[in-house]
Amino acid sequence: MLLRILKSLLLPVLLLAVLILLQLNVTELSNRAGQWVHWMPTFIGYALPTCIGLCIASIIQRLVTLIAWDHWARRRFGGPTPRILRDISWLVIYATAILLVVTLVFQKSITGIVAVSSLSGLVLGFALQNVILDIFTGIAVHMDQPYRIGDWIKAHVGHSSEEVIGQVKEVSWRTTRLLTEENKLLVVPNSALAATVVLNYHAPAKPSRFHTYLSLDTAIPVERARRILLAGTKAAMGRDNMLTEPEPMVLVRKGDGVGIEYEIRFWIHAWDPISPAIATDRVLSSCIMHLEQAGIDLTYARQELYFEPLPERHIDLTKDAGRRRILDRVELFDCLTEDEKTMLASRMKQESFKVGSEIITQGDVGHEMYIVLEGLLEVLLTETQSTIPHKVAQLQPGEFFGEMSLLTGEPRSATIKAMTDGVVFVIDQPCMQQLFESRPRLFDTLGEAVARRRLALTDPTVASSPEANASRIQELGRQITRKMRSMFRVMFRDG
Ligand code: CMP
Repeated sequence: MLLRILKSLLLPVLLLAVLILLQLNVTELSNRAGQWVHWMPTFIGYALPTCIGLCIASIIQRLVTLIAWDHWARRRFGGPTPRILRDISWLVIYATAILLVVTLVFQKSITGIVAVSSLSGLVLGFALQNVILDIFTGIAVHMDQPYRIGDWIKAHVGHSSEEVIGQVKEVSWRTTRLLTEENKLLVVPNSALAATVVLNYHAPAKPSRFHTYLSLDTAIPVERARRILLAGTKAAMGRDNMLTEPEPMVLVRKGDGVGIEYEIRFWIHAWDPISPAIATDRVLSSCIMHLEQAGIDLTYARQELYFEPLPERHIDLTKDAGRRRILDRVELFDCLTEDEKTMLASRMKQESFKVGSEIITQGDVGHEMYIVLEGLLEVLLTETQSTIPHKVAQLQPGEFFGEMSLLTGEPRSATIKAMTDGVVFVIDQPCMQQLFESRPRLFDTLGEAVARRRLALTDPTVASSPEANASRIQELGRQITRKMRSMFRVMFRDG
């Protein structure tokens, strides 16, 4: 830094030294020159101090450039200093130097100069309104820093609705120069940029989120589609600043006659080094490859013609057949035969609940279990040492609850509260007893479910990673199954 300052100042300082030396001997110099040309002494009298003034201005200007712009501002703006700031400092320093020379050397009052320049400024101001607007917005842009040199920005410029995207290459007095993706230089007046909304892809930080869409057939379960698309997206990430953190996401965007549209979100450093379009291409290509491997095609608009009676669009829950179809969606009853499901469907009762109501209260005695048909419920646990319940789980349609007390005879282990209005099916103990008699395998399925939930009440890791706790769940499941078997054996006998 010091070396650069010395190098840059060497010439003007030497020149200044020579000029000062000449100024010190100005009388002798004028006398000698006067012998040759008669107007030379007057000329030297004005020229020498003028040159000294300009030389000092040049030294100050170089110092400002090196210290303020090349060192301080480069650090502050994190890149090369905009040309406009250098130009302004240049103008101010030389204008001051000239005013001082006019006043001190030529002994002229600056009031006159200021008056003349104000008048001409007024005339010029009218003539160059737009240029001046550009200049001031250019200055504002530098103060405000909505973008820096090297950033990629998007803006609607002028009256066109067309967007321009480019990398900021230079911000000058009047214009901002953008280099577009097509390697074209776009020169945009600063006032046009100030009058529009500018999207800076590199602020506040380089990573930014992009998205693309893919539509799949409605027949493909959402979970499966999500799994495959997420794997496809993740496979494309990890190079060329396509980021693995924050993690990509797959969201269901909409469902229509064509299929289900998924939104794939991913994070990249835009244009550093690859553009969002290339990144999207890589993500889509990878997802399509993963879908092909899984034997799934992208969906397309089509019309289906049925030559059979249309399947029922709405399940009528007042009829046994309708309730029977609902049971097909409850995983717990997968092991039941058609007849057993039909029996269960005819015996279970339907009940509605309102948001905020308690369907089960912790500590109560209970002899029914429930299947959620519609709505959302929360499982609340009040620890012995506390009076405030906390939420341990959420129950959705297709899930069941109340099985613990029904099966083990113990008091209700938690409170079940409605988060929305909804509907449940109620299954009572005699009905379960009949099922156990015909299908003893249900003991094991239910025993394990009870064990998993009971452990989750005291240890939240059980719910989040049941695989890691498999042995604990199985062990407790066996104990509960034994207890259930002996309890129901007594009932079978008594019944
Ligand atoms: P029961 O004990 O009869 O009454 C409260 C019910 O809350 C309980 O049966 C379970 O069905 C349910 N339950 C308890 N713990 C959990 C859990 N961790 N996850 C889901 N449901 C639970």
